[in-house]
Amino acid sequence: MSYPYQIKSYEAYKEAYKKSVEDPENFWADIANNFQWRKKWDKVLDWNFTEPKVEWFKGAKLNITENCIDRYLPEMADQPAIIWEPNNPEDRVRVVTYARLHKRVCQFAQVLKNLGVKKGDRVCIYMGMVPELAYAVLGCARIGAIHSVIFGGFSAQSIADRLEDAKAEYIVTCDGAYRGAKDIPLKSIIDDALIGNKVVKKVIVYTRTRTPVSMLKGRDVWWEDEMEHAEGQVEKNGTVSFPAEEMDAEDPLFILYTSGSTGKPKGVVHTCGGYMVWTNYTFVNTFQYQQGQKHFCTADIGWITGHSYILYGPLSAGATSVMFEGVPTWPDAGRFWEIVDKYKIDILYTAPTAIRSLMSYGLDPIKDKDLSSLKVLGTVGEPINEEAWHWYDENIGKKKCPIVDTWWQTETGGILITNLAGVTPAIPSWATLPLPGVQPVLVDDRGVEITEKNEEGLYKGNLCMKAPWPGILRTTYGDHERCRTNYFATYENLYFTGDGAMKDDEGFYRITGRVDDVLNVSGHRIGTAEVENAINMHASVVESAVVGYPHDIKGQGIYAYVIVSSFHGSEDETRKDILQTVSRIIGPIAKPDRIQFVNGLPKTRSGKIMRRILRKIAEGEIEKLGDTSTLLDPGVVDDIKKGKV
Ligand code: WTA
Repeated sequence: MSYPYQIKSYEAYKEAYKKSVEDPENFWADIANNFQWRKKWDKVLDWNFTEPKVEWFKGAKLNITENCIDRYLPEMADQPAIIWEPNNPEDRVRVVTYARLHKRVCQFAQVLKNLGVKKGDRVCIYMGMVPELAYAVLGCARIGAIHSVIFGGFSAQSIADRLEDAKAEYIVTCDGAYRGAKDIPLKSIIDDALIGNKVVKKVIVYTRTRTPVSMLKGRDVWWEDEMEHAEGQVEKNGTVSFPAEEMDAEDPLFILYTSGSTGKPKGVVHTCGGYMVWTNYTFVNTFQYQQGQKHFCTADIGWITGHSYILYGPLSAGATSVMFEGVPTWPDAGRFWEIVDKYKIDILYTAPTAIRSLMSYGLDPIKDKDLSSLKVLGTVGEPINEEAWHWYDENIGKKKCPIVDTWWQTETGGILITNLAGVTPAIPSWATLPLPGVQPVLVDDRGVEITEKNEEGLYKGNLCMKAPWPGILRTTYGDHERCRTNYFATYENLYFTGDGAMKDDEGFYRITGRVDDVLNVSGHRIGTAEVENAINMHASVVESAVVGYPHDIKGQGIYAYVIVSSFHGSEDETRKDILQTVSRIIGPIAKPDRIQFVNGLPKTRSGKIMRRILRKIAEGEIEKLGDTSTLLDPGVVDDIKKGKV
């Protein structure tokens, strides 16, 4: 397997970029020709950002699993597609070859069919990081069902909201999931989410932890039983087959819920053709993947990074993808390095928050590990600070591995701005250059392109995109208008990312972080409005305001200012009750790091909370609050300053 579209020099990058802008249709047709289509497209691209409407490879027919699995069977059947490292290092490792992956995915597609799942049905997947999660995702894709994976850190309430929004009729889950020393009772959380739900028809339960579970007659079935039954159906005379459903390039592949600045998460929809081409192209180019290498992306498949760079990107490139069930610090902080050493990992792709957390353990956990197999390092999820970048470079890459700082979002499907490993220049804490097909622009608050440099000699503004790339979101599930207002209505004819950025004279980008009310906590995306809604559910809470503040390890921490009618027990007990409420409503990942009880919130005369002031106080910049004269009651600010936690 070679990748004719792999960019091998800075010159070639410039050339490819130029062509992608000047002649996008031919540029992407050339790349798309390297995939397996049942029928080629009638038109490469049709778009406008006003509706918005984006259609790539319109009229083409394919199934993404044939591109991720079947096309590698003739020559690479025995090559590992997925190497699975269990949570407990003593447990058995599982190596899933392309042939085995094919068999399991066919089998699971058959299971879905047996249970009545049809093309276009929504299947919610709430599992730990086990190979069966990959089979479930790809099994859905094979039969044309739309998967909606929910991260294991979300609560029953969050799951219930997502099930309802997607009108999902099927669920795939596990009895429980191991995460470090913890055992999370996934099925029991699903049971809570299903109280009162009349839509879900079947729940498939895979046995991982052997936590006791309640199995409801007629609704709940065991994964193992169903798979055993399906095995005979897909395997005859030694040949395995489950015909892949023929999908239109623009048929939905999956929904993934993500937070925005409003209280309710949005179901971002990606489609089959464009997403496949984009994840593959960005994977092969960013990491400069070479056939036979082992790629270790430490993300969870519950987030977009896992979808695109554990599953679809690597598998569509015939790569070997390492999937890790555990956490970086259990049983000790040497876990990642042990995995790198054990499997001779070539590419390690992780998050700045993980790097910072591991930095805090010093160099001891690395000392006796052989990291010499590493060739490329990557980061994703938040801006990487220079200190973490250098630590990663010196201690993990031993100054021999290019670091790719990849900027992208759930909505973008794959990486948009990054350096290409060893091919284009790397600059610590700069995402650097747009990939071919990506046309960024920095605008001011009125949407006018920034043409003047600031004191530092940089262009600084809100980051937008002028044109669609194949992996851009197509809609938000069930509510296209929401997609328009969220992403395409802030600035005319532009996709607005929600991030701020700076650009230098050479066109290199540095991402400064979100400019909207979205937080990035340990690489998890959480909306402040969502957390406020959850806090406000607590019986004693009158009002709350949530902001982010810089956190050494998490990147951002959650700071909540809360007005209560009375304390139930002590202040500290009330605080714990509020945390418990947030855990129930959203999930443990959204628990505020700090809660400050206040008597009032700084509001303008029109009643709007002045978050700027609250942010400054949370950041500890008490002296730099700026103009507070427009406040209804400037006195509340002094009270808040005094009570800072
Ligand atoms: C942030 C994760 C700086 C950004 C793939 C974006 C980054 C949000 C980077 C999307 C990076 C992601 N440098 N910031 N390299 N990568 N971000 O949807 O604020 O979970 O808008 O997708 O993460 O988070 P999401």
